[in-house]
Amino acid sequence: MSSYDNLLVRSQGRAGLIQLNRPQALNALNSALMDELVQALQAFDADDGIGCIVITGNEKAFAAGADIRQMVDASVVEMMASPFISYWDAVQKVTKPIVAAVSGWCLGGGCELAMICDIIVAAENAVFGQPEINLGIIPGAGGTQRLTRAVGKSVAMDMILTGRRITAQEALQFGLVSRILPDAAFLDRALELANEIAGKAPVALRVAKEAVNHALEMSLAEGVLLERRLFNLLFATEDQKEGMAAFVEKRPATWKGR
Ligand code: HXC
Repeated sequence: MSSYDNLLVRSQGRAGLIQLNRPQALNALNSALMDELVQALQAFDADDGIGCIVITGNEKAFAAGADIRQMVDASVVEMMASPFISYWDAVQKVTKPIVAAVSGWCLGGGCELAMICDIIVAAENAVFGQPEINLGIIPGAGGTQRLTRAVGKSVAMDMILTGRRITAQEALQFGLVSRILPDAAFLDRALELANEIAGKAPVALRVAKEAVNHALEMSLAEGVLLERRLFNLLFATEDQKEGMAAFVEKRPATWKGR
C-alpha cells in the first residue's frame, strides 16, 4: 500500500479504505491532506481489485472542516487563485461508489466532502454542521447546494444561517445519511456495506452512480431519458447476460466487469 502523511490507506476485500489522519487538528482539511485524498481516490478508482471506496476519519472526527489556520489571512485574490476548493470537485469525478463513514465531528468542508460521496453512513456519535456563518463566511465547497438538495430548504437554512449542529439521528430523519451504524462495530459495518456494493456488477455500479447523480442536475424528463439510454446500454455488457442467465439458472452470478 502507498504511504501518505495525512492518510491511512488499505484495502479489505474489494473495498478500498481511506482514513483521514490529522487527529491533532480533528482532521481539518488542508491542501496537503486534500491533495493526498485525491491521489488515493484516483488510485483506487483505477484499481480493478477495488469495487467501492470508503472515506472515514477517526472516532472523534470525520473532519472538523477546512483548515481555518490555512485560510485566516487569505485575501480574496489568493482565494480566487487557489486550487484548494477544486479538490472537492476532483472527489466528485471518481467513478466508483464512495461511502462516507462518519463518526464524530463532520463540519463545514468535512460535511461538504461527505455530501460529495455517494452514501453517508453515520456512527451514533456523528455530528453534522455547516458552521461557517460563525467565521463570517458561508460554505464554499457546495454546502449551500448539496445540503439543500439533501434535507430541503428549511432545515438547510436553519443549519447554514445559525450554524446549528445536528445529531446522527436527526441526520437520518432529515435524509442526510442512509444508515446509523453502532459505534462499537462502526468501521467493520461500513466496510461490510462497501464490500456488499463492491460485489455487484462493476459497470452497472458506475452507470447507476452516474444516473443517480444526474438526478440532482437535470429536469425529470432529461433524467429519465438519460436513465433509459444508460439502461439500454447495459444490454451491451457480458455482465447483463451473466446476471440474467444466473437468475434463470438459479445460481450466483460471476461478474466480469465488461
Ligand atoms: C483548523 C482546527 C479546526 C479547523 C479544529 N481544529 N477544527 N484547526 N481548522 N477547522 C483544531 C483546533 O484548533 C485544536 O488545535 C484542535 O483541532 C482540537 O480542537 P478543539 O477546538 O480544541 O476541540 P473541541 O473543544 O473538542 O471542539 C471541537 C470543535 C471545534 C467544535 C469541532 O474545534 C471547532 O469549532 N472547530 C471549527 C469548526 C469549523 O468552524 N469548521 C468550518 C471551517 S471553515 P490546537 O492546536 O489548539 O489543539 C470551512 C469552509 C469550507 O470548512 C470551505 C470550502 C473548502
